[in-house]
Amino acid sequence: MTTAVFPGSFDPFTIGHRYIVERAAARFDQLVVTVVVNPNKHGLLGVDERIALIREDCADLPNVRVDRWTGLLVDYLTNEGIDTIVKGLRSGVDFDYEVPMAQMNRELADVETMFLLTDPKYAHVSSSLVKEVAKLGGDVKPFLAPHIYQRVTAILAGERQV
Ligand code: PNS
Repeated sequence: MTTAVFPGSFDPFTIGHRYIVERAAARFDQLVVTVVVNPNKHGLLGVDERIALIREDCADLPNVRVDRWTGLLVDYLTNEGIDTIVKGLRSGVDFDYEVPMAQMNRELADVETMFLLTDPKYAHVSSSLVKEVAKLGGDVKPFLAPHIYQRVTAILAGERQV
């Protein structure tokens, strides 16, 4: 059985992430979307909430499950007996950022990274840009599943009242 891990912060999970999940899930028997927790970084969404929102978004994809991990990513793959990471690429900037990590992960644990190109229509979509636009009052509805959009806007509405 072929299994791959699609790791990320997913704060929040966007339509660009969903596109990569769909493409990877069509090519592997199982795909694990792993929310990697950075203990030094306070996200917009809590980790449990990110997981719940991704589970809801991917509920129609039976070979996709969602998990979490804190620490070195290759340790997660070794623990799970998985040897493949999937990453999405939007541009050469992503490529330059990803190549050293892919090489490091291969050297550390013989973990292979496979890159899937995004659809050009999602090339500008990133969690950080979505958060910035949303915080400044821009409309981020086109970039998020409806339930994720609702949650992000509700959190930001709460923040603005403070
Ligand atoms: O969505 P992001 O923030 O671009 O995801 C980056 C992530 C979490 C996949 C990457 O930072 C990572 O793999 N972190 C886990 C810690 C680790 O293994 N670091 C060494 C990478 S070679």
